[in-house]
Amino acid sequence: MSAAPFNHAKYRPFPAIQKTNRRWPSQTIQQAPAWCSVDLRDGNQALIEPMTVEQKQRMWRLLVNMGFKEIEVGFPAASQPDFDFVRWLIEANQIPEDVTIQVLVQARDELIERTFEAVAGARRVVVHVYNSTSPVQRDKVFALDKQGIIDIARHGASKVQSEAKKFPRTEWVFQYSPESFSSTEVDFAVEVCNAVIDQWQPTPANKAIINLPATVECAMPNVFADQVEYFCDHVHQRDALIISIHTHNDRGCAVAAAELAILAGADRIEGTLLGNGERTGNMDIVTMAMNLYSQGIDPQLDLSQADDIIATVEACTSIKTHPRHPWLGELVYTAFSGSHQDAIRKCLAQQTTDEPWDVAYLPIDPQDLGRTYQSVIRVNSQSGKGGAAYLLEQQLGIELPRWLQVELAQPIQALAEQQQGEVEPQQVLSTFRQHFMEQDGQYQLSSYQIDRQGNQHHVQASLTDANDLMPIHGQGSGAISAFIDGIHKATGVDIQVVQFDEHSLDQGSEASALALIQATIRGKRYTAVSQDSDIVAASLNAVLSCLNKAIAEQQIAA
Ligand code: KIV
Ligand code: ZN
Repeated sequence: MSAAPFNHAKYRPFPAIQKTNRRWPSQTIQQAPAWCSVDLRDGNQALIEPMTVEQKQRMWRLLVNMGFKEIEVGFPAASQPDFDFVRWLIEANQIPEDVTIQVLVQARDELIERTFEAVAGARRVVVHVYNSTSPVQRDKVFALDKQGIIDIARHGASKVQSEAKKFPRTEWVFQYSPESFSSTEVDFAVEVCNAVIDQWQPTPANKAIINLPATVECAMPNVFADQVEYFCDHVHQRDALIISIHTHNDRGCAVAAAELAILAGADRIEGTLLGNGERTGNMDIVTMAMNLYSQGIDPQLDLSQADDIIATVEACTSIKTHPRHPWLGELVYTAFSGSHQDAIRKCLAQQTTDEPWDVAYLPIDPQDLGRTYQSVIRVNSQSGKGGAAYLLEQQLGIELPRWLQVELAQPIQALAEQQQGEVEPQQVLSTFRQHFMEQDGQYQLSSYQIDRQGNQHHVQASLTDANDLMPIHGQGSGAISAFIDGIHKATGVDIQVVQFDEHSLDQGSEASALALIQATIRGKRYTAVSQDSDIVAASLNAVLSCLNKAIAEQQIAA
């Protein structure tokens, strides 16, 4: 076989974890994990242009307002802007009482010393120390054997401890990451972490954080869950540890891996808003939190200002949010397809506030994220009758009868096809007005009077016909039939009403009425809608409008 440029034989499968006692598949998530945002560190490290101080400040404010209690604010020993930002946070007293900053540092003495300088004076700090543990990093990057890696980790842990002693007024929390954990032999990951834990000697009252990164996601999420469960079962002093998870999204499963890791025993999740981060990004905290929310679990984060979250992330990262991004994308609560629109309309009409949310095609109420129902249903050439009717209903405040929905669908479809794109709500209204409500034509209603004797109605009306006035006299069982009778007597044109609906419109102090009519004239159907403060006038005008259309179209000499 010749070596093709696209050649799967170049790669090998990720080895399965040999495990017979899996418990995680039967667990469920009952509560939100502890969250730690790494937007200002991992997210920032991945940007083409790292955040300016102003952007970092804006991101910080958003994270605090959303309710994050732990925020990794930078890698101060590696970057002067990160160092300065941490100093600003502390010196300008920006850290609320219930928020803890976290700083990342490699397990190297001089970097650890500089990191402690950066956070001097903070009330409480998570010092996050890491070194790489996977075979490729050991063999090809560091040229160290397993013992060499353990020594780096243990030495880093010890250095962190001794530096912390110099700042006794700060409450220190120690965190260790075996970087590339998910690509490391799981036994060895346990061994390295145990060396760190044995050095730190955490207690249940003073826990250490062990953070397990999928630095590069290289297997299915179930494999990661196996690794995490195995780790939790074998690590020293599990009750004195917070097991944290830090997944990346190389295979598109960072959220799934984090969720399964919680089932497997993890307590805490690191990630970024909307998943910014190295390569395909970090685990998206917004998605995972909304996944919980949609299952009735309090995510312990406020995501109600979705548009503000998007605007801030975009302004700080210069990365646009995909319109179909889970939960927050611009189009994720929008239906273009007619059958979806129809189902959504029906369900929304039946949804009550005291029952659990149960709307087809909408897994949550878009209003929870500050989205309106107006944006849920949008119209293009795929939409059929339901969408345009819904948009019109939103604007007119009435439910269109089905027969009129069918009538409206035709000009809207034509417009969508002609525009080759979306039909805006305003265009739906103007198309409706243009096709059904325009009142010009040969005859206009000038005046009318109706007398009722028992079931009989007598109508006397006057129509303007160019500059002439045409009297109308008719009778029937209702005002409309009496009027039609009068038209027939005066013009010889026979009108048969096929559909009729009336609606009152509440327009502020002025009540107004809408008459909707479909009539057959000389074998053809005409539809007209008329609005007036008086429902009888609206109905008679709608009849006249049908007549005018027939005269214009069929060249009737009436
Ligand atoms: O992805 C990773 O492994 C990291 C570590 C430094 C935690 O960002
Ligand atoms: Zn990372």
